[in-house]
Amino acid sequence: MASPSAAPATTTAGQGRDLPRFRTATTMIETTLRTAILEGRIAGGTPLRQEDLAARFGTSRMPVREALRQLEAQALVEFLPHRGAVVAEISAADALDVTAVRAALEPVALALSIPHLTATDLDRARDLIADMDSEPDPGRMGELNRRFHMTLYAQAGRPRLLALVEQHLAAADRSLRYQLAALGRAEMSQHEHQALLAAVAERRIADAGALLARHIERAGATLAQFLAERGPRQGTP
Ligand code: NI
Repeated sequence: MASPSAAPATTTAGQGRDLPRFRTATTMIETTLRTAILEGRIAGGTPLRQEDLAARFGTSRMPVREALRQLEAQALVEFLPHRGAVVAEISAADALDVTAVRAALEPVALALSIPHLTATDLDRARDLIADMDSEPDPGRMGELNRRFHMTLYAQAGRPRLLALVEQHLAAADRSLRYQLAALGRAEMSQHEHQALLAAVAERRIADAGALLARHIERAGATLAQFLAERGPRQGTP
């Protein structure tokens, strides 16, 4: 994803006709850093100082800042208070932990919700699948995925359960964005969303639950495998 001018490069005052050059520099910095992070060549937690990067890439700080913001949307970089931008820490163990919670809770919420879902709920879920298909910004995919799932569970009538589900979906959002950055859009597994919605619409509770559990577990396993395969990683399980 060479970020085909996804974000309208937050208008940098006074740049005027230098905008193309600014975009080129942003893309170059973003691509270089993304590759290094995904290949594990820069350890999680490593500070990314804007001045250092600007010097290294021979640019001003503005394209560096914009590139870091785009990497943040992909969950590859985090902005920490007092520390600035650092390479995001993401671990296979944590991805599998979140997956285990989701795979346990979400099918329960779904089974409770299915009998009460309205035509409006189903339409909303269908629209969210279409939104995911047409969303160019990977940073927004996690949010759309979260809303799609929550729409299916909305009528469960168990606020505590739904709060837990939503909390772990939010945690999974980061993994999902990372995964999209690493493995591409095909990883969104929209065919699984389609199959899930079809089973839900036909009120096939057992099928829907099984499809959902598989959807969640597959995503977690794929990311864990990617993280394990990218070679000797710098500590922190
Ligand atoms: Ni999903």
